[in-house]
Amino acid sequence: MPTILITGCSSGFGLETARHFLTEGWKVIATMRTPNADLLPASDRLTILPLDVTDAASIASAVAAAGEIDVLVNNAGIGWLNAVEGTPIHVVRDIFETNTFSTIAMIQAVLPQFRTRRAGVIINVTSSVTLKNYDLLSVYTASKAAVNALTAVMALELAPFGIRAHVVLPGQAPGTAFGANARERLTQAGGFPEPYAEMVQAVFARLAGGSEDELTRAEDVAAAIWRVATDPTAPMRVPAGADAVALFKG
Ligand SMILES: NC(=O)c1ccc[n+]([C@@H]2O[C@H](COP(=O)([O-])OP(=O)(O)OC[C@H]3O[C@@H](n4cnc5c(N)ncnc54)[C@H](OP(=O)(O)O)[C@@H]3O)[C@@H](O)[C@H]2O)c1
Repeated sequence: MPTILITGCSSGFGLETARHFLTEGWKVIATMRTPNADLLPASDRLTILPLDVTDAASIASAVAAAGEIDVLVNNAGIGWLNAVEGTPIHVVRDIFETNTFSTIAMIQAVLPQFRTRRAGVIINVTSSVTLKNYDLLSVYTASKAAVNALTAVMALELAPFGIRAHVVLPGQAPGTAFGANARERLTQAGGFPEPYAEMVQAVFARLAGGSEDELTRAEDVAAAIWRVATDPTAPMRVPAGADAVALFKG
């Protein structure tokens, strides 16, 4: 019975992915900043561990407690919408710390066991915004595009050791907690600079459009992660959700 470790399982894509792999009979290590056993169905194949991906000690103890794993999913992430001019540098650092550097730290923590066993799959959840340029998403897109580039090159380094590395690129998913969390972060950081007001209006109008079946559901992301985890011939980049698939096709 294979084992998957997923970061950011308290909501959204991470929670749905944990559910999906449990249903498929895998052992699931669902990690959360604040563990809550009520979120997932009780199972002797489920372990819930505390993990803040920005904390080196937290990573070390979660990976030690997890033991042997077959698949690592770096899903934990935070959003941000603002112009570069309206993004305080401490926010830039926070976005990269969670979305980019912590992904690298998690990979470094599991690679020794993957390399020793000459097996393992690393799946990094990035975003379909890296497939097209959208205003006000510069900093967020940069944090995810860096992970795309890292993964593409790392896949070459790891192939000789029998380890696969992939990115899953979800589209816009208004059904998760992502947007509300990003809005709160924006309010705390002072909002949008006034000269960008017209652009902000246009971006919000665009984000409000799109019917549910044209966007991304958490189930789409769980299905894409399932495909990558279980199909050794899966491509390095896999879009998830109707909008992401359309962007990917170009
Ligand atoms: N929703 C979208 O439109 C969308 C589109 C493309 C890509 N994505 C990406 O998909 C991933 C999942 O997003 P989602 O939509 O499922 O959003 P979500 O519902 O907000 O889930 C994000 C998860 O990441 C966790 N997290 C944040 N910071 C963390 C940290 N320092 N340590 C550990 N966990 C942390 C959150 O935990 P807490 O509950 O503790 O905050 C939560 O479990 C993210 O990487 C995001 O960038 C989202």
